[in-house]
Amino acid sequence: MKGVIFTHLQEMIESQQGFQVWNAILERCDLPSEGVFVSTEQYPDEELFAIVDELSAVSGLSVNDLLGAFGEYLFPNLHKSVPSEIFAPLTLWELLEGLDSIIHMEVKKLDKKAQTPTLTVKRSSDKEIVLEYRSTKKLYHLAMGMLKGAAEVFDEKVTLAKPICMHDGHSCCELVITRNV
Ligand code: HEM
Repeated sequence: MKGVIFTHLQEMIESQQGFQVWNAILERCDLPSEGVFVSTEQYPDEELFAIVDELSAVSGLSVNDLLGAFGEYLFPNLHKSVPSEIFAPLTLWELLEGLDSIIHMEVKKLDKKAQTPTLTVKRSSDKEIVLEYRSTKKLYHLAMGMLKGAAEVFDEKVTLAKPICMHDGHSCCELVITRNV
């Protein structure tokens, strides 16, 4: 996982729980990186899971809920970093339709080692978009949180659902975004 994801996780934990909590988590995790993350480098996914496991132990919240909350925090930060000459979607729908073909494609162009999920549009209408999430990382709770964060950024009231999930043995998840009208 790219360092930029870790640096935002660190920022979230430090701003919401305090530096002491971040330091305590690092001490308990004993990570090979020692918690020093460079945004352009890659680090083992296990380090992310170890940090979130410890955060769960400290906060009493479930790992899934924490991944969702982190996704919500992460989206506006990553969104800000996309240069407008590359992609400046005006609506949530435009963003979602360009996730795979523009945003994550650009991430992989800039970094051959980047491992983004596949997020393809399966169906799209004015009212609803269905995205198919495929990734060996199985970070669909993070993805759902990012969708929530994206709806907030674009000031859209939506309902999110995951009727098909890899958790139940499926090869992908279906993420459904429905406009509340
Ligand atoms: C709602 C919008 C988005 C969703 C649902 C989404 C979903 C995800 C998920 C779930 C991952 C974790 C890896 C995996 O599951 O395989 C990921 C990785 C990543 N995404 Fe996105 N993403 C979104 C928008 C963005 C934006 C706006 C950027 C801006 C540059 C971005 C850049 C990245 C990067 C850099 C990674 C890490 C790649 C790596 O570790 O090598 N994403 N994305």
